[in-house]
Amino acid sequence: MPKERVGLVSEIPPGSNKVVTLRGREIAVFNVGGDFYALLNRCPHEGAKLSRGIIVGLPESEVPGCYRLSRPGEILRCPWHGWEFDLRTGKSHCDPQGLFTRQYKTSIEREAPSPDTCGDGGLTAETFSVIVEEAVVFVEV
Ligand code: FES
Repeated sequence: MPKERVGLVSEIPPGSNKVVTLRGREIAVFNVGGDFYALLNRCPHEGAKLSRGIIVGLPESEVPGCYRLSRPGEILRCPWHGWEFDLRTGKSHCDPQGLFTRQYKTSIEREAPSPDTCGDGGLTAETFSVIVEEAVVFVEV
C-alpha cells in the first residue's frame, strides 16, 4: 500500500493532531503519548470532523457510583454528539442509539431485559496505518 508523507514528528506533539488531505481524503493523524494513529476525519455517525473532538480517557466502573478513568488520552469524543472512539482502533465503545430506558410492566412481575449496549457499539471510524521513519510521519493510503 503506498505511503504518503504527513509531516515531521515535531509538528504533532502528544495530545494533538494534524489534518492532511491524501488522495482526496481528509485524514487526521493523532499523537497518543508518542504513538501515532490516523483516522478518516469524518465521524461515521453524521460526519463531524473528528480532528475537532476532545481527547479523553475511558471511564470504567465495576459497581454503581464508583468509577475510575483508564487509558487517558486514548479516547476521542466527537464534537457534535459526543460518541467516543478508541484512537488506537477507531472502534466505539458505546452506541448511544442503542441505549434504552429500562422498561417495567406493571402487570408482569419480572423486569423487561435491557439490551447490553456498552462494550462494542459496532461503530468504527475508518483507520489508516501510520509509519514513522527518521522523525517523519507517513500514512498508508
Ligand atoms: S457526528 Fe459524530 S457523534 Fe454525531
